Amino acid sequence: MSELVIVALDFESSREALALVTELGAAARSYKVGLQLLTEAGPELVRELVSSGKQVFLDLKLHEIPNSVAGAVTAAGKLGVSMVSVHASAGSAVLRAAVEAALPFPGLKIVALTVITSLCDKDLQEIGLEPSVQAQVLRLAHLAADCGCHGVVASAQEAEVLRGVLPSDMLVLTPGVQLKSASSSSSSDQARTADPRAAALAGATHIVVGRAITKALDPRRAFAEAVAQFTHD
Ligand code: C5P
Repeated sequence: MSELVIVALDFESSREALALVTELGAAARSYKVGLQLLTEAGPELVRELVSSGKQVFLDLKLHEIPNSVAGAVTAAGKLGVSMVSVHASAGSAVLRAAVEAALPFPGLKIVALTVITSLCDKDLQEIGLEPSVQAQVLRLAHLAADCGCHGVVASAQEAEVLRGVLPSDMLVLTPGVQLKSASSSSSSDQARTADPRAAALAGATHIVVGRAITKALDPRRAFAEAVAQFTHD
């Protein structure tokens, strides 16, 4: 199902982003807009995507006081996006504020970030956290579930463990996805990667794929490959 493959629009301009959206065509229905593109292009691009029938995951990675997070979620809801990300490490008051702010927007889901995929166990020590990425991911995923978040973001390596402990209706979004046909250039900053099939088998409900599609020689083909490989049976 193609809407479960979310294409990350990590571009420098709305022109480049929209060119890719046009190139992928009707088959690609879900896009992630992150801080770079939002800051560069502004909310107008998000409105344009939504009004053309695309589902938008606004990857705001919110980590603020509860009132500010609630305000940002409300603003995202007004744009008509489908998902907004919040750092679970911001704590329960923030997560609950985000979930509550999403309530007036029935289609809006709050997804909690656990540990970003570029980090490994050694990096966690540096910032005084749990001894392993997996322990920290589990801790934060439980917190997100307790606070009513609709999903979590975690690497494929943690998805399998999470699937076993989280409520079955909770989404698991997995970035750090590589395609077999793609060059290795996009893997340099990803410590915990997987291919779409492995992510599906691990229990990811959605995958977030950026450069493996956007920088592919043939993005349509790369997208089709990701969709074909992301099968759950
Ligand atoms: O690596 P790729 O271009 O596929 O990244 C797509 C998205 O996945 C990025 O926008 C980022 O939010 C997320 N990502 C991540 N950790 C990484 C690399 C990417 O969470 N190490």
